[in-house]
Amino acid sequence: MARIKFEAVGKQYPNGFTALENLNLEIADKEFLVLLGPSGCGKSTTLNMIAGLEDVTDGNLLFDDAVMNTVPSHKRDVAMVFQSYALYPHKSVYENIAFGLRMRKYPKDEIDRRVRDAARRLEIVPLLDRRPDQLSGGQRQRVALGRAMVRQPQVFLMDEPLSNLDAALRISMRAEIKQLHQAMQTTFVYVTHDQAEALTLADRIVVMKGGVVQQIGVPDEIYERPRNMFVASFLGNPPINYLEGHLRGQGGAMVFERGDLRVTLPADITAKLGAADGREVVLGLRAEDVVESAAPEPGASLSGRVLSVLPVGSDQFLEMEVEGRKLFLRLGKECRYREGDNATLAINLNRIHLFDQQSTQSLLWS
Ligand SMILES: Nc1ncnc2c1ncn2[C@@H]1O[C@H](COP(=O)(O)OP(=O)(O)OP(=O)(O)O)[C@@H](O)[C@H]1O
Ligand SMILES: [Mg+2]
Repeated sequence: MARIKFEAVGKQYPNGFTALENLNLEIADKEFLVLLGPSGCGKSTTLNMIAGLEDVTDGNLLFDDAVMNTVPSHKRDVAMVFQSYALYPHKSVYENIAFGLRMRKYPKDEIDRRVRDAARRLEIVPLLDRRPDQLSGGQRQRVALGRAMVRQPQVFLMDEPLSNLDAALRISMRAEIKQLHQAMQTTFVYVTHDQAEALTLADRIVVMKGGVVQQIGVPDEIYERPRNMFVASFLGNPPINYLEGHLRGQGGAMVFERGDLRVTLPADITAKLGAADGREVVLGLRAEDVVESAAPEPGASLSGRVLSVLPVGSDQFLEMEVEGRKLFLRLGKECRYREGDNATLAINLNRIHLFDQQSTQSLLWS
């Protein structure tokens, strides 16, 4: 069993650069935790600290109740699949997977049992005698996973393990990794900059930016109740649309205004806002939160010119100009609008987001 706890953990590299600030996080035993964020936000740094490959320069890192700050990597019972998963080029697949166990002097038959078991689960049994240069990228990636799996560690760390794969293989490997987590019954910490991967795999997601945690939550919470504009726009494809404007109190209700656009906020949102008349805000509207409507209600609709219509198989994306802003919206195949049309769409008011223009923090979720 392994619970991992970060208590006010920070990381400053020897050149003075702060890669991680004041991380407070408890990862439950057997949890699948995903660290998500753009390049350079400190994901690998955080993972490497769990692995014992980077010093903790502030705070404490604990496994269960033991402080691990100075415990060397080989005494931590963690296995890691690296961002660049170099295999030994002159060893067979079998020997690549067996290597870690041989180093730890496991008996031969135990090694054989574990290698074959991992190979079966990863569907690479027919490849055991090949060398890495005789494998496809996806097969190599699976060997790298196998190498970590046979260790049967308490903590399994993965740093963008699917980043080198093509789109189709990435999706099927996601499913395999999820099954692997269920079969292994260990704590997984998984790093990615791919929001779709995070939403699919995670029990909980930690969204990071510039070494600072932006939000921690289950996937639904992160997607539905983003705490700030960064989180809202990092998850979702195409990204959420933003419209700057201001709030106006109108007969008990609160209205979002931008030019001729008026959006009457639902009562529960108005209640959350308190005294907000004149406040400069940003309205967030996800691509999927509009529909075509024969009789759109005033105060709950969006009008503008259609700039382009992009079919994407199952749906169509509509690029539309509304009050000087280009919005990217997702509509069903049956959507009748064409380029150049003036369109009016109904907004799903239960799913809008509102942020403070200055702080970029959500006015709905804290
Ligand atoms: N040894 C080092 N010395 C100084 N700065 C470093 C060192 N290693 C990493 N950094 C910096 O720390 C920050 C975080 O790096 P890290 O590798 O954790 O990012 P990441 O989130 O994994 O990014 P990516 O998605 O590109 O892999 C980056 O700005 C990086 O340049
Ligand atoms: Mg990295």
